[in-house]
Amino acid sequence: MKARVLTGITTTGTPHLGNYVGAIRPAIAASREAGVQSFFFLADYHALIKCDEPDRIERSRLELAATWLACGLDPQRVAFYRQSDIPETPELTWLLTCVTAKGQMNRAHAYKAALDANLAAGEDADAGISMGLYSYPILMAADILLFNAHRVPVGKDQVQHIEMARDLAQRFNHQYGQGHDLFVLPQAEVEAEVELLPGLDGRKMSKSYDNIVPLFEGGAKGLRDAVARIVTDSRLPGEPKEPEGTALVAIFDAFASADERAAFRAELRAGLGWGDAKHRLVEQIDRELAPMRARYDELMSHPERIEETLQAGAQKARAVAKPFLESLRRAVGLRPMLAVPASIARPAAAKDGPVALANFKQYRETDGRFHFKLVDAAGQTLLQSDGFAEGREAGAWVKRLKAEGAAALAGAPVRRGAGVDAQRVEAALAALVAAEPAP
Ligand code: TRP
Repeated sequence: MKARVLTGITTTGTPHLGNYVGAIRPAIAASREAGVQSFFFLADYHALIKCDEPDRIERSRLELAATWLACGLDPQRVAFYRQSDIPETPELTWLLTCVTAKGQMNRAHAYKAALDANLAAGEDADAGISMGLYSYPILMAADILLFNAHRVPVGKDQVQHIEMARDLAQRFNHQYGQGHDLFVLPQAEVEAEVELLPGLDGRKMSKSYDNIVPLFEGGAKGLRDAVARIVTDSRLPGEPKEPEGTALVAIFDAFASADERAAFRAELRAGLGWGDAKHRLVEQIDRELAPMRARYDELMSHPERIEETLQAGAQKARAVAKPFLESLRRAVGLRPMLAVPASIARPAAAKDGPVALANFKQYRETDGRFHFKLVDAAGQTLLQSDGFAEGREAGAWVKRLKAEGAAALAGAPVRRGAGVDAQRVEAALAALVAAEPAP
């Protein structure tokens, strides 16, 4: 399997430079690496936790979609979708909720912050805290685990959530995996050099502190106006300034090479005025953002194109999510009654010997091509492959189907035998997967 990279961005507010530097830019760069398969989505279910204004939700989804596309996300390469277009996500959330310890959710940062604020204000501990906020990390774990993401680029503030996702994956694997790992354990990836971008006042750039620099909204003027509001000390032009620890320099760093960073520091130490420094900062940022801003404006005037792109992305994502969720449902015991294993339906089966399984047969046709088929115990063909030029291609598919079951069917060059329905094939594959020795 290719390494899978996945990240989501919550659709409240308007994207700001902190989102760009901390999430969007590194994620897009990662999506261009060879050998990775990327999933990027708009976390609009998460948005509902924080925002109950429908128009803001709508506006923000549009702005964010346009932002990611304008910043260079290639929807051909990447599955780019809305969380709310994937019904498997809330379904997995429930399966995970049932293996989540309540005590662990008590320790989640977002919930604890709300709780502490209530206590500090002398309010009831639970005042204004929804179950959505409380179980936020479980929905996030579902986002990640549904696609078996290996790497999750996020801001530092989200690292705890990824750790919780790992934990839930481990617990679920242990409980239901029967020696197989159902979920990959995800790894957080925090951009090393620029961890949290400071905002205008030097605190972390965040909508809630009202200290953001907008990414595209407000145009070039919006950027200049925001930069003008960056807090500095009152040293005059000509006076030496200490660059380290200032918000202005930290933001500059995020858009500059090592040489440019050193040069900027030297100029400030030599007395560059804050006004000139701000001018320099705007130029530095715009070198990267100006072409993106033009694409953004174009997209914002064609929302129907964005909608189409997102629908196609949801299809791509669901081709992975749907069969995988099906296998998870089976793992927890939500199985079609057709497929109830003989050991449960007929507990006496054990002494009749093992249940007869379907099996794969590989063969070569007279035209020289290699084929395989899945044949049930009574000799009926359940699946029939296309022809392959190489025997090992057929072998590789057989191996995958045995290991992954119906999850590997999406994209497999096979068709069902005459009169065989999808459930029978899935049941036969599930039985084979269950019978496969642990890797
Ligand atoms: N909670 C994340 C944030 O606010 C957004 C998010 C939701 C996310 N689901 C995710 C990020 C899954 C990474 C993976 O930034």
